[in-house]
This record gives sequence, C-alpha cells and structure tokens, in this order.
Amino acid sequence: MKIITNSGFDSKVDALVLTIFENESYKSYSKELATDLDNAIKQERFSLKFQEVFITKAQDLPYERTIIIGLGKKDEFTTERLRKVTGKIVKTIKAQKLTSFSTNLAHVAATILREQDVALAISESLILANYHFNKYLGKEKRTRPIETVSLQWTTSSPSFDEGLRTGTIIAESTNFVKDLVNEPASVMTPTEIEKIARTLASSKKIKIRVMDRDEMKKEGLGALLGVAQGSAQPPKLIFLEYKGGSSDPFIAIVGKGITFDSGGYNLKPTGYMEDMKCDMAGAGAVLGTLKAASELKIKVNIIGVIPTCENMVSGIAQRPGDIVRAYNGKTIEITNTDAEGRLILADAISYTEAKYKPSIIIDLATLTGACVVALGVVCAGIIGKDESLIHSLIDAGEKSGDRLWRLPFFDDYQDYMDGSLSDLRNTAGKGKPGEAGAITGAVFISKFVEKARWVHIDIAGTAHLNEPNSYNQKGGTGSGVRLLSYYFMNL
Ligand code: BES
Ligand code: MN
Ligand code: ZN
Repeated sequence: MKIITNSGFDSKVDALVLTIFENESYKSYSKELATDLDNAIKQERFSLKFQEVFITKAQDLPYERTIIIGLGKKDEFTTERLRKVTGKIVKTIKAQKLTSFSTNLAHVAATILREQDVALAISESLILANYHFNKYLGKEKRTRPIETVSLQWTTSSPSFDEGLRTGTIIAESTNFVKDLVNEPASVMTPTEIEKIARTLASSKKIKIRVMDRDEMKKEGLGALLGVAQGSAQPPKLIFLEYKGGSSDPFIAIVGKGITFDSGGYNLKPTGYMEDMKCDMAGAGAVLGTLKAASELKIKVNIIGVIPTCENMVSGIAQRPGDIVRAYNGKTIEITNTDAEGRLILADAISYTEAKYKPSIIIDLATLTGACVVALGVVCAGIIGKDESLIHSLIDAGEKSGDRLWRLPFFDDYQDYMDGSLSDLRNTAGKGKPGEAGAITGAVFISKFVEKARWVHIDIAGTAHLNEPNSYNQKGGTGSGVRLLSYYFMNL
C-alpha cells in the first residue's frame, strides 16, 4: 500500500472518504452530497455517531463512491478511536471492491490529536487492516488489497512525514509476523524459523548464532531438550544480535517458539489444539521487532532469543513424572507436558543471561489459557516486579494500541512452583488446578533469572484471533511488535 499526502483531495482515486465529527458541517464538499446527507440524516438512515458509514455517489464529485464516516463526539476522540475508524474505512473500501481513496481523516484528527500520533496511528492501522493471508486461496477467493491512499494534509511538516514512515515500518513488520503465525505448523517448523531468522539477519546488520540439539546436549539445556524430545523436528535456539547502541549492555527479548503445541502426553482435547500453530507467536514477535528496530535504526542493543521446537507425542516423547535438569542446574519435575512454554523459556533465559549478560530480559509467550480467561483478547498480560520496566512497557502499549494489563506477582505466589522430588515442578503444586495460572507460569520463569531486570508478557489471548476486530484479521495479529517497537523508540 502506498500512502501519499496531498494538499487537497486526489481526483484520480476510486473513492472519497469524508470523516466528520458529530455537530460539524459537511455542506462545503459538494451540493449533491449535502442533499443526500441531509435526507439520510432526516430519515434517520445515518448519523455521525462514531464509525457509522454512509455510502453514496455524488454526481458532482469525480469519484466512483463518496463515503461518509462518523467520528462521533469530538471530545471523545482518541488515538485508539483513530486506529479503529481507520480500520473501518479500509474494510468499507475493500467491501466495495475499490483499491484507492482520498480522505480528510488525518487533517480532521489533527485538529485534536498530535500530528506525529495521527501519522503513526493512521499509517499503522491502514497497513494492518489491509493485510490478508491469501497464499493458499484460489484467485476468486482473494480480496484485492488497497493500493493507494491519499491523505489530505494541508501543511508540510517533517514530523508528520516521519510518523508515516515509522508507522509503515512498524505495521509491515507486524504483518510479516502475521504471515509466520498463519503459516501451518507443517511449514513453519523450527528449521523454517531458523531459515527466516538467517534471512532477516543477512539483510539487516544482525549477527546470528543458532544452537542445535548436539550443542544443547553438551551445554545441558535439559528443559528445552525434554520438550523437543518427542518430535521429528530438531529444536533450535536462535540468538540475533542487533547493535544500535554502541557499548550498552543488551536488552534481551525472548520469544516462545513452539511451532505446534499438541500438549504432549497431556494431550490437548479437540477444541483446544486446532489453533496451536500460533504457539510460536512470541518467536514471531521477536523477529518482527528486530526487523522494525533495524529499519528504524533504533539506538539500542537488542538480543533476540528464540527457543523453538515442537511439543509432540511419540514413543520417545517426554512423560509426565519425568525429571529434567535445566541449564542453570535446577531440576524440574514434569507434572504436565502441556506446560512446555515455560520449560523452553527457562533454558533460553538462563543461557542468555550467562552468555550475553543483558541488563533487561523481556519474554513474550503464548503461555497460558488462564491469561485468556483473565483478560480476553483485548490486551496481553504483563507480570513482574520491576516497577519502572513494567510502567514503560504499559505506556508503550497504551500509545501503540498493542495494550497490556498488569497481573499481580505478590510474594504469596512465589512458592507455588516448588517441587517435592525436585527443585521445581512445571505446574503449581499448591491450590486448585489452574488457580492463578498466568501468574504461576511467570513464577516458574522467574526462577531462571539471576540478576537482570525481567518481565514476562503473556500474549496467549492477543497473538491469534478467532474473529476479526477493527484492524486485525482472524488468525495471527503480530502482537508484541508494536508494543516493543514503541518501547524501544521511547528509550
Ligand atoms: N500454548 C498453551 C497456551 C495457550 C492457550 C496459548 C490458548 C494460546 C491459546 C500453553 O502451552 C499451555 O498449554 N498452557 C497450559 C498450562 C497448564 C498445563 C498449566 C494451559 O494454559 O492450559
Ligand atoms: Mn502447552
Ligand atoms: Zn504452548
């Protein structure tokens, strides 16, 4: 999609999209349009309430279609509303089978929001909403993407253009992750993730190192190896070093890369296993963030870490009751083979801390169904003890629309994962099954962090949707990319 700015309306596009606040005048655009609208409003077929749509063809305007979208009350308008209405416009244009439009949205939004925020929100949601995973669809089922959007923008301002450029990079990096998550698990194997990571590294200034099964055995990554044990797909532990910030220590972003989660011997039932190709979304978020960071030339040193394998059932798979020894020497009783994400993150985190000494570790994982129960698909969960790290991430979430909500991490939870036969167990030994499940998962992971400032982000609800929303489709969302990109931009 090409996003251009124009001081007026571009007459070469298919549609004109006028966005109007409630109680504001629309008379000046065209006589015929004003008559159409007056009638529609009088007959209560349309109002300018937020996201209401009116489609017409004004004969005195040079467009295939003229579309009016209500912006609601001016004093209720926010960046989040701007994102939503932008998504609505994209959907409306696509439903009309049109491929270009000109709009006053940026101009109108900038009467109450900051220029830079308007540029970011509009470019991001245009590109996010225009995405469609159609690789496996026949021609007749593919929808045509929008090719050109012309934003009416009357002043020339570097901060607006800069915002459009930044938003485009972040949204395209997010769409890149959607592709990875939407790909079936038969294709998106750990080996394929390695290949994608290598391609990314060689096209950007990123150093890559990949650990294979033999090296994991030598180094003693028993927790990761245990999960990978039942699969024909070899596991990988991938390190991507992006150096944008001279001699500063790394900030590590660690993403869960389970390419398929069958549950293992604690097999998932029908209804819970079908979407489990999405269980590598944390890994995707790491790749997408590094892509964005390098294109934005973020001035921070970031190490992306991806433990990736499959959680399968077989004659040589890990059993409930097995005890494994993690890289940091701690023993873990596998009380449930379906709590596999924390196991691969444990080894990835303690190995990363030992070898790369990051100052901060942020892990992202589709870790628990409990987090989905708590927060739904509207925001991801964030858990940890580092107040300032948590607050800056929550703030980045608020600004980017890739939102977070904090769950508690009181001392009272900290012994839930203690083992009786082993140092730790991978599901809670206290309370009812599943009790505080998102939190106890984080408790387990925290036992593998030594000195770094650490926080855990559970994207189980946000990474993959069963129903589309305003600017996301059904399927992968690229959750975490906007969040981390904004976080790094703000540092
Ligand atoms: N990958 C799942 C969590 C998940 C659930 C992701 C729904 C996306 C959507 C994870 O590995 C898992 O199975 N977690 C278990 C943990 C339990 C056994 C302690 C769960 O949530 O049931
Ligand atoms: Mn699982
Ligand atoms: Zn999982």
